[in-house]
Amino acid sequence: MTDFQTVLVVDFGAQYSQLIARRVRELDVHSEIVPRSISSEEMVAMDPIGIILSGGPASVYAEDAYQLDPDILEMGIPVLGICYGHQVIAQTLGGQVSRTERAEYGRTSIDVQDSGSLLGDVPDGSQVWMSHRDSVTEVPPGFRANASTNGAVVAAMEDPDRGLFGVQFHPEVVHTLHGQDVLRGFLQHCGARGDWNRASIIESQVERITEVVGDDTVICALSGGVDSAVAAALVHRAIGDRLVCIFVDHGLLRKGEVEEVQRAFGDASPVRLITVDARERFLDRLAGIVDPEEKRKTIGELFIRVFEDTATQVGDARYLVQGTLYPDVIESGTDSAATIKSHHNVGGLPDDLNFELIEPLRDLFKDEVREVGRELGLPDAIVNRHPFPGPGLAVRIIGDVTEERLEILRDADSIVRDELTKAGLDEEIWQAFAVLPAIRTVGVQGDGRTYAHPLIVRAVSSEDAMTADWVRIPYEILDRISNRVINEVDGINRVAYDVTSKPPGTIEWE
Ligand code: XMP
Repeated sequence: MTDFQTVLVVDFGAQYSQLIARRVRELDVHSEIVPRSISSEEMVAMDPIGIILSGGPASVYAEDAYQLDPDILEMGIPVLGICYGHQVIAQTLGGQVSRTERAEYGRTSIDVQDSGSLLGDVPDGSQVWMSHRDSVTEVPPGFRANASTNGAVVAAMEDPDRGLFGVQFHPEVVHTLHGQDVLRGFLQHCGARGDWNRASIIESQVERITEVVGDDTVICALSGGVDSAVAAALVHRAIGDRLVCIFVDHGLLRKGEVEEVQRAFGDASPVRLITVDARERFLDRLAGIVDPEEKRKTIGELFIRVFEDTATQVGDARYLVQGTLYPDVIESGTDSAATIKSHHNVGGLPDDLNFELIEPLRDLFKDEVREVGRELGLPDAIVNRHPFPGPGLAVRIIGDVTEERLEILRDADSIVRDELTKAGLDEEIWQAFAVLPAIRTVGVQGDGRTYAHPLIVRAVSSEDAMTADWVRIPYEILDRISNRVINEVDGINRVAYDVTSKPPGTIEWE
């Protein structure tokens, strides 16, 4: 029986609230997100050693602002409020929250007046990251104020006797240089043993999956990417041969990808693999669809239909394993977070889904998943693969997805990736690819006029795909890519490089 301590993170709707849970896990303490609708009784039933109230987009004065169940602060379980959570604690316990003259977004330095229990390792004047308009101006009775910034009268406060703490800044983001020290201070106050690690995820998931699945057969949507490979390996560890992996060739894969996946997961691998040729089915359904969300939803639904048809060949499997990650969940939209795009495996699922989903990686970020993969003994070639989206090249062809355009993009994309690999940039790059826009431009080649597509090259660095920056690829390499693409790929007469970070862009173009 797995039995480790847990810290609950109450999600008030910040795009980054899962980052808090992840930072806690980095300190070897298990952490889970819970919805803001959770009651104090439900919390007690989960037996947490501590509770963190996340940030959120609303003002405590907004009409629909979430009011904290005051019992949560009376349970004797230590509570840390961050940003909105900090203000909610102040407001609930009789402090003062005011709208300040100016908002405070981004980096600022903190004046530490009294280190207290949380700020012992945070030097006076060190950098913290802020994102707020309202500010705590008076601490509740029993609290003391520990620090301030230009835009926050009370940037940190605490009542250690009651185990209540609040910080206006975001300890979870890397720009708060001593953020982990703040979280460590809180966890120490909670009596954390640090009894959780990657092996614990494997242990607890294997236990859960075994219990849920019983004697049933399970199918797994395998794309060849790291997420589904790790999910499959986890489930395989739990139920062995009763797992059947299904790899759908939807015709939207990159050059040589079908063969690559079959080589990696074929005879040499312990999992059973069925490859389904669904190229015609996908391309027929996608014909004429140009809207990105419609494309994503169509592909998400078709994946499920193919899995349903294939499940009948393997004893009517009821469970479907997906390698869904946390960023897929948050970007697809939740009760409290906005929809950025419908990831095929979350927001793209049809309403009449008949499978029960098993998603053992749903709370994790990709780099955490890679660690789990290593722990499970997956080869580096799989664990270090660059991400590739489930909807494949369809979200990199702007406009209509046709066989002719797919062929152009496949050839160009393989040159882009080949040159970056040869230049030794794979490690620095999170993901690199080509995009084919739905426009044509005029050029001149061999004394003649051309009227063909431009190709966009995109290469980004990232830690977890929630934010990303464009990679400063040396000009000589961009030059080589441009020459090769234009000379070797019919239909392209111009190459551009995308210099947009995320935000404001996203990594994929659709
Ligand atoms: P964006 O474009 O949202 O992408 O910045 C973040 C990461 O997710 C990948 N991605 C997807 N992966 N199904 C997936 O499995 C999807 O529908 C999907 N959409 C985007 C993207 O390649 C990047 O790594």
